[in-house]
Amino acid sequence: MPPHEFLGKSIDEVAPEYVAKLTHDNIEKVLQTRTKSYATYEITIQKEKRYYEIRYTPMGENRVLSTMRNITELRNAELEGKRLEEQLHQTQKLEALGRLSGGIAHDFNNALAGIIGAAEILTEEHSKGEEKEFVTLILTAANRATDLTKKLLTFSRAEVSEKYPLDAQDIVTETVALLGHTVDRAITLNTEITARDTTIIGNTSLLQNALMNMGINASHAIEKTGTITFSLKNTHLDKEYCLSSPFNIEEGDYLEIGVRDTGCGMSPDISAHIFEPFFTTKPTGEGTGLGLAAVYGAVQEHAGAITVYSEPGQGTIFYIYLPLAEPLSLPVQEKNRQLPRGTETILIIDDEELIRKTASHMLESLGFTVLTASNGREGIELFQKEHHRIDGIILDMIMPVMGGQETFSLLRDVHRDIPIIISSGFTKEKDMEQLRAKGRVFFLHKPFKKFDLAELVLRACRN
Ligand SMILES: Nc1ncnc2c1ncn2[C@@H]1O[C@H](COP(=O)(O)OP(=O)(O)OP(=O)(O)O)[C@@H](O)[C@H]1O
Ligand SMILES: [Mg+2]
Repeated sequence: MPPHEFLGKSIDEVAPEYVAKLTHDNIEKVLQTRTKSYATYEITIQKEKRYYEIRYTPMGENRVLSTMRNITELRNAELEGKRLEEQLHQTQKLEALGRLSGGIAHDFNNALAGIIGAAEILTEEHSKGEEKEFVTLILTAANRATDLTKKLLTFSRAEVSEKYPLDAQDIVTETVALLGHTVDRAITLNTEITARDTTIIGNTSLLQNALMNMGINASHAIEKTGTITFSLKNTHLDKEYCLSSPFNIEEGDYLEIGVRDTGCGMSPDISAHIFEPFFTTKPTGEGTGLGLAAVYGAVQEHAGAITVYSEPGQGTIFYIYLPLAEPLSLPVQEKNRQLPRGTETILIIDDEELIRKTASHMLESLGFTVLTASNGREGIELFQKEHHRIDGIILDMIMPVMGGQETFSLLRDVHRDIPIIISSGFTKEKDMEQLRAKGRVFFLHKPFKKFDLAELVLRACRN
């Protein structure tokens, strides 16, 4: 408001009613008590909150001097300071939890490796009938515990993951395809891709797991029908944003991955805790509260950031920011490498549903036909029936029910020359040598990239 519009007018003519009343009350008080007084008030001008302070000073018998000061900046700085303090507190808490859980998870993981290894030997060599059932129980429980410790390890970033240039769009597409098989049909899955550059330096399985966790959470938040949308956008994060972020990020060009749902949403006192390990609102047995903790770790592992916006009844949006790969720093862009295609039929034997689905999806998209089995016994039955049309097998080494070694021998009994690709996260050199001596054997390291998988399958089937 320019000065000529309010000079010579009374407060009632120029200020909102409650400000005028505040002023009259204060003037009255100062006239009666003859002491200074002051008041603050806020008004919203064009959707922006502004704060003012008025001081009232008695001037002789019946006059009061009132001075008004705009304290909006001061007030905002104060509020921002409080917000940053809270954020710091939250970040420190998560860091401490990370250190604690990382240590526990590491020891647990080692203990579990021992339990699984020993139980594996028991199933393969010694046990029959009822004994075997118990050993299988041990294996199933130990494998479930391994899944949990893996999430904890991701949260605490106790392990460094291998990273390489990858196309995040492939990961989003694959996640949506996988979710399509898992979530209720009444839930619509969408993708919105407006990013031109989607190449980042990262780890496929870490990111895929993170997006799956978020997709599954979103599906849980939707009562009956609703929509989950994955989006990809390029964006620039400026210095100011990076400085105010609780994450250790630097100014630059980023890929923004959005996961949006039309579900139940969250209140602020819930969303403040969602990244903490073991924070869950789900009933016991239904959620462990490790999904978003693992997402948080994966995002940090990628030098990125994650934010959440949510309102009860309105739905939730998560944004993950990952730094884009510098175009010049890429020796071979994954995108430019021609993906090998094939028409062979492959049997995948793996107890992990996610691996079966991911690998099938990758191979099918390149022209292969895929059959799957979720354990050794099922795999052998399928191979006995269909061996005339199967060109190669991908076999997981560590499985309950019937371990990899035993399955391997029985498969070879059905067909001596079938190429077998052993897939494993950790195979001992000694075991590999033994297997190598058994003819057409190849090794695939988990987690694998689409390119490596396709190339190895072709090499195995065609040489
Ligand atoms: N999209 C969402 N909408 C509403 N609430 C959510 C959403 N995502 C997460 N939450 C809340 O955050 C909590 C923590 O999520 P998180 O994935 O870490 O654990 P969880 O899903 O409960 O268990 P799990 O370990 O099986 O993933 C959830 O219990 C839920 O209250
Ligand atoms: Mg979850």
